[in-house]
Amino acid sequence: MTLPVNPLLSRATWMHNGDIRPYVFVRPENKIDAPGTRHKLDWFQYEPIYKNPLDLHELPFAEAIYQIEWKSFGGQDLAIPRWVFYDCAAMPGFVAGFAGRTEKLPKKVLDILGYSTEHEWCPISLFIITPTMHRGEWVAFDLCSINSMLPKEEQFHGLGFLSKAFGLWYANVQQCSGMTQWGSPALKLHSHYGHLEIIGSYAPLHTHATTMTYRCEVNTDCWEKFFTREPDLAFLEKYGPTEFQINPADQASMKSLQNKIQNQEGPFYLSAGEIAQKGLKDPLTVYRLKQG
Ligand SMILES: CC(C)(COP(=O)(O)OP(=O)(O)OC[C@H]1O[C@@H](n2cnc3c(N)ncnc32)[C@H](O)[C@@H]1OP(=O)(O)O)[C@@H](O)C(=O)NCCC(=O)NCCS
Repeated sequence: MTLPVNPLLSRATWMHNGDIRPYVFVRPENKIDAPGTRHKLDWFQYEPIYKNPLDLHELPFAEAIYQIEWKSFGGQDLAIPRWVFYDCAAMPGFVAGFAGRTEKLPKKVLDILGYSTEHEWCPISLFIITPTMHRGEWVAFDLCSINSMLPKEEQFHGLGFLSKAFGLWYANVQQCSGMTQWGSPALKLHSHYGHLEIIGSYAPLHTHATTMTYRCEVNTDCWEKFFTREPDLAFLEKYGPTEFQINPADQASMKSLQNKIQNQEGPFYLSAGEIAQKGLKDPLTVYRLKQG
């Protein structure tokens, strides 16, 4: 069954005929009340597939989630240990993403994940968020899609972006924090869910000190611009460029901004429009609220 498509999502052809649907991997006690009611959006029309991580019948699905995660992050020394997935995601939080009807997915995807056609649905992306002690704020700590393992012409356009969008929409997330490494392609996605404040630009406490920590008020007006590439006039009106830059190849630029954040000289922001136009290794302008 094909449902009416929002024109913004016309390039994401894979999500329109019901053979690829959102999934929610959450224990029943953690299910969201009134999902998808905070952010008004018609993007996610199919009922999600529910999977209970504590049900042993769902183990093959969970193992495929691990395969996506490990193949995405193994090379970066960030592959999720099983205990972290269980203790910090499956128990307190919420894993969401998209899953395809196994018999309709390209064989290459099943081969990459070592998945068998005996299972009806196969995950092809994942996004993990956990609620924090700060009311309304969630921490996003994992986002991966099968796209990074496929040649460009075989990718599911927008899969990573829409996986996080679905999770934020479904769980009615008001404020989203997260972590990513400077120079990561993920910054092109993370900057489009709301104006991105840099709350940390250098994190020696992390496995990778060149990790940036961000926070945003979730705002679906920003989501559209991921697809339209239109300038965010509201951002440009509110924030102006500073003389500071972050150079992904230069830790000194990260430490310098971290000092300014700690000296209460911020808050500082990044421009999604600028990140979209730049190469991954290019220096990024740091923005600040305009005066008066
Ligand atoms: C980062 C990641 C989640 C992006 O998901 P995705 O499904 O590939 O991306 P989407 O299809 O949603 O979005 C595509 C857009 O993202 C950007 N993008 C994605 N990968 C990119 C890359 N390697 N280089 C530059 N831009 C990239 C581009 O803007 C692209 O748009 P375009 O095709 O019009 O150029 C995915 O590549 C991934 O799983 N990477 C490995 C794990 C990882 O680094 N996760 C992020 C941790 S914070």
